[in-house]
Amino acid sequence: MPSVLRFLLPVLLMSVVAATCAAAASSAAPPASMEAFIFGLPKAELHVHLEGTMEPELFLTIAARNKIKTPYATAADVRQRLLDAKDLPSFIVIYEELIGALRTEQDFHDVALGYFRKARSQGVVYVEMFFDPQLHLERGVKLKTLYAGLERARRDAREQLGLEAHYILCFLRDRPAESAAKVLEQSRPWLAQIIGVGLDNPEVENFPAKFQAVFARAKELGLHRTSHCDVGQPNTVEHHWGVIELLDVERIDHGLNVLDDPELIEIVQDKRIGLTAAPTLFYRDIPGRMEYRAGAIRKMLDIELLVSVNSDDPGMKRSLYVGDLMLRVQQTTNMSRDQVVQLAKNSFLIAWITPEERSRYLASIDAYVNGASTTD
Ligand code: ADE
Ligand code: ZN
Repeated sequence: MPSVLRFLLPVLLMSVVAATCAAAASSAAPPASMEAFIFGLPKAELHVHLEGTMEPELFLTIAARNKIKTPYATAADVRQRLLDAKDLPSFIVIYEELIGALRTEQDFHDVALGYFRKARSQGVVYVEMFFDPQLHLERGVKLKTLYAGLERARRDAREQLGLEAHYILCFLRDRPAESAAKVLEQSRPWLAQIIGVGLDNPEVENFPAKFQAVFARAKELGLHRTSHCDVGQPNTVEHHWGVIELLDVERIDHGLNVLDDPELIEIVQDKRIGLTAAPTLFYRDIPGRMEYRAGAIRKMLDIELLVSVNSDDPGMKRSLYVGDLMLRVQQTTNMSRDQVVQLAKNSFLIAWITPEERSRYLASIDAYVNGASTTD
């Protein structure tokens, strides 16, 4: 194909997809059922781990084509294993085990694109996705393999789905800071593909101080910054203060324990720090988990914190994507439509996008909500 066409074709396709989506959003009244309303609402996903989006079926397909022996004959067997996840450390053990199947550019592409398709089917139009390069380097996968797969998935999402995606390089909190600094420098050839840095994996004591230098370096490189502060971890309030004061984060992933400290609430409000809550469910039933998380999200909305709803690791938890989760939060707390709309707006208010993009996404929500009466 001539190079001009190679460049123009995706742009044209993207415009057609975007125009079709915009027309669909603005030419009809919003649906009457809450479920359909939530699924059609344009929204951003800001807290989702590439690796954790891998559904058991895709894990088995990838393992088979890479000729990797696994103890699981069926997807049901993998889900049985996932029943062992009951908290962050036990979940990460299985997460790291299943990631062992990922080897090739095609693998990373298929996992990311599989997620983008699913997310788009529930109204997600913009994604900032975490990935854990250290976990792949440790297993002998080359960064160029990983970045090539991610980039191709991003392009395909834009061209085939009209979904815009960016990637957030996550450092592992339970590995040395030197390893984080090294992977950041090794990733510099692909810096244009990375929008920011984050911190994930088990929450080790005093982790903010450990990563202060590497976060300063990321800032110097022009990258945005976020960090997990998982729910109910030891020293959670200190960790929230640490990521704000030492790491200069713009968002906190989960962040529900901000509610435990009135001064934290105040600083998060003043600095307009985004909170990417994830009211996800493990396969194992943990009584009260949804009630607590949904209740905290509702309280955060009530005090005008910039909280959004996110799916975290949908493929390795109960296959609940953002639309499913917003609906559960709405039902659990009896949220109004206006509050659901605010959650969607928050997802764009705290996304790392330009002011023009923000205005465009917010306008698409208003057009969807107002339907034909205000847009025709
Ligand atoms: N890695 C994948 N999901 C995670 C989570 N929710 N917290 C910390 N690390 C993770
Ligand atoms: Zn997470």
